[in-house]
Amino acid sequence: MGTESDVKAQGAGLWGWITERFPIDEMLREHVTEYWTPKNFNFWYIFGVISGFVLVLQLATGMFLTMSYKPSAAEAFGSVEYIMRDVEWGWLIRYLHSTGASAFFIVVYLHMFRALLYGSYRAPRELVWIFGMVIYLALMAEAFMGYLLPWGNMSYWGAQVIVSLFGTFPIIGNALVEWIRGDYYISDITLNRFFALHVAVIPIVLVFLALAHILALHKVGSLNPDGVEIWDETNERGIPKDGIAFHPYFTVKDLFYISCFMLLFCGIVFFAPTLNGLFLEPPNFEPANAMNTPPHISPVWYFTPFYAMLRAVPSFAGTQVWGVLVMFAAIALLFFLPWIDRSPVKSIRYKGPITKVALGVFVVTFVVLGVCGMKPAVGIYPLLAKIFTVLYFVFFLLMPWYSRIDSVKPVPKRVTYHAH
Ligand code: HEM
Repeated sequence: MGTESDVKAQGAGLWGWITERFPIDEMLREHVTEYWTPKNFNFWYIFGVISGFVLVLQLATGMFLTMSYKPSAAEAFGSVEYIMRDVEWGWLIRYLHSTGASAFFIVVYLHMFRALLYGSYRAPRELVWIFGMVIYLALMAEAFMGYLLPWGNMSYWGAQVIVSLFGTFPIIGNALVEWIRGDYYISDITLNRFFALHVAVIPIVLVFLALAHILALHKVGSLNPDGVEIWDETNERGIPKDGIAFHPYFTVKDLFYISCFMLLFCGIVFFAPTLNGLFLEPPNFEPANAMNTPPHISPVWYFTPFYAMLRAVPSFAGTQVWGVLVMFAAIALLFFLPWIDRSPVKSIRYKGPITKVALGVFVVTFVVLGVCGMKPAVGIYPLLAKIFTVLYFVFFLLMPWYSRIDSVKPVPKRVTYHAH
């Protein structure tokens, strides 16, 4: 309980009454108005906030979809058609949610790439990165389970293929697959449990992880495009010389970029919600049919780089488990980035040519793998997938070596900043 003078300091009236009982003012100061943010943030620093915005958008639209959706094999497909045709604004809510899923991955991939550019994952931000990676895993699970819900033919066969991958594990494989499906095939039971996980469990986990991510970041402070720690140079009040208040300076900038994002996003929602089969795949406009496999099964674009790696590994000794392990390893490797990057500098601005070329090749690798995963495994694609799978692993496995021997430029003591 505060004293009477504390109450005066906190302000009178309702605000004073609340802040004496709940530390909202302290929280706002610590995380918003007195969160000292590097003044040289650039374009790459908008994607964290936009990811948060898309998370809220998905929660809000998902909640409204749940009001009219029926999680049963007999009714799911029809209930989505009902949402699209009969529910007031249902088509908009559904397209916001389906486009939001792809948008989420676009902004998260750009957000992760920013970390690669500027070494944001390096000490002391390892936990920020690890929380981010767990968010990424949860997001993949959320998207995978959500994709089954419309009970379209690709929902069904996509789930069939991905769940059966767990069957490649020796000894426990078959039991594991049955446990995940809750049945001998993808059925009503599977749909029900995926629905529960998609609308309740994983969203809660995601929200808590996002909070932990921000708290971990605010404990150590944000890095910036120069990779210089602003807390190394503080003024007489103990405030970083290159830090400015998050609010109002970055809230204004973020609002502007969120508006730009919304313009692009709404352009897709209103004019091209399927994005030519990339965001909503054609076979998913037909109901699930266990007797009719789509001619070419592929996951949605955000999973295809990993799917390409899975297919790139030939089955060996009669099992596909090696492909599955390679795919999991490709994701697992990312967790170790803070420790395998041994460069004496953090930001790409001051790194040498080897690292710059390696990062460029990595971007091309990820995109080519993504394309290979979307295409049927015929013609040039299987070969490309093999070559680029190797390149993907080379980028990470050789990083401890090339990041150490590469030349570096001198890092300035303070951030570089040019007022516009
Ligand atoms: C729901 C998803 C996510 C949300 C809402 C989110 C939110 C944020 C926000 C608001 C920031 C501060 C602003 C910025 O630097 O952009 C941030 C920073 C950061 N995020 Fe995320 N993030 C998400 C996912 C991820 C993922 C998947 C990763 C990586 C695996 C990641 C890694 C980082 C890192 C390393 C930083 C520190 C950047 C720095 O200080 O330079 N985040 N995040």
